[in-house]
Amino acid sequence: MSSHDTVFDVNATAAPRTNSYEAGPGDVGRVLLLYSGGLDTSVMLKWIQDHYDADVVTLTVNLGQPGEDYTAVRAKAEMLGALECIVVDAREQFAAEYLAPAIKANALYGTGYPLFTALGRPLIAKLAVEHARRMGCDAIAHGCTGKGNDQVRIDATVATLAPELKVIAPVRTWQMGREEEIEYARANGIPVKGGTEVAPYSIDDNLWGRSSEGRWIEDLDHAPDDDVFNLVTLPEHAPDDPEVIALEFERGLPVAVNGERLGLVECIERTGEIGARHGVGIVDHIEDRIVGLKVRDIYEVPAATIILSAHQELERLVATIHQNQMKPMLDQRWGYLVYAGLWWEPLRSDLDAYIDAANRYVTGTISLKLYKGSARVIQRSSPHAVYDASLASFAGSGGLFSQGAAPGFIELWSLQSRMAWRVRNPDAQ
Ligand code: ARG
Repeated sequence: MSSHDTVFDVNATAAPRTNSYEAGPGDVGRVLLLYSGGLDTSVMLKWIQDHYDADVVTLTVNLGQPGEDYTAVRAKAEMLGALECIVVDAREQFAAEYLAPAIKANALYGTGYPLFTALGRPLIAKLAVEHARRMGCDAIAHGCTGKGNDQVRIDATVATLAPELKVIAPVRTWQMGREEEIEYARANGIPVKGGTEVAPYSIDDNLWGRSSEGRWIEDLDHAPDDDVFNLVTLPEHAPDDPEVIALEFERGLPVAVNGERLGLVECIERTGEIGARHGVGIVDHIEDRIVGLKVRDIYEVPAATIILSAHQELERLVATIHQNQMKPMLDQRWGYLVYAGLWWEPLRSDLDAYIDAANRYVTGTISLKLYKGSARVIQRSSPHAVYDASLASFAGSGGLFSQGAAPGFIELWSLQSRMAWRVRNPDAQ
């Protein structure tokens, strides 16, 4: 009986399969493993060779995570028996195809998570599909747990783009805790970095930000320990002098920082460095995960904080009141789809069509003053601003605005409200 049949086998005693895409031992001969070089994926690299009797090809994707040594990652994978160790620098693609639409969509989830992990996963999984096909693999393995969002994003991407490929997520099933993993690593000649007593934070990072989970972060009542911050200077240690940063945008995307024209990757890096120095972009976030859990994350997102504030400010300046009321609703839908692992959902590209149109006139410069953790907009300029200083000024009348016409406007503007108030409060007259 094929595994497919069991889904419909009412007499089966075993629990039915819950999905179409997971592989068991025996289903696969060559696996592409998404490899970070950390403990989980290093143990996995050996474990898959043993338990699935399969060849393993590793793929490591550079999305701009600071301080990564890809030569060392590759050497480790080779040492652990990988058939081939692929390292891809996807920074430009990540910026152009994932971060650019996110900036145009002012993409945030919850009360301040700029979605850097959620944006990275579909690209990582897409690259995994491409390289798995090229290398003749029949499955993709990843190190996500069964409790997080990342498994949803990766599995959904693989199942969407490559229904012929299977997925292996050993952490969901192998039932090893950290101690057992370390034991397994020791027994199999896998180097274990650092002290083994205290579990490290669970970190994920790329060009657009860094997250930490685990340890005391799980105790909602525990104020952040300083050692969690790796990117952003603590505001209390930031310089005593403020710094102004000027961001120039063209059609919704940053093109220059402080007058220097830069590519998108460099704009993000430069802005991030300046913001981090001033303590900007620390977010202590309680999050509603896709899979139901509430979890706390500590985010360090200096570039995203500054670029999104500036973008949103400029967008509001060039758009009308009607556009300004609509856009945040669409932005919120966009951010939720991305958070929820539905990057490939057509609604997202439908929304992109509007969002791109709305960004057509988002050209101009926004300056922010950075000071001990805050980033405050202080200057705005745009050739497309729907703003006329002479009309807005207190004094004067003329041009498109007539103060004399204001009472007539108020008469009609308030008509229904006045009538309703009278009907509902007959005694008050
Ligand atoms: N909570 C964030 C998200 O779901 C960050 C997850 C970080 N991922 C990780 N494997 N540590 O997008």
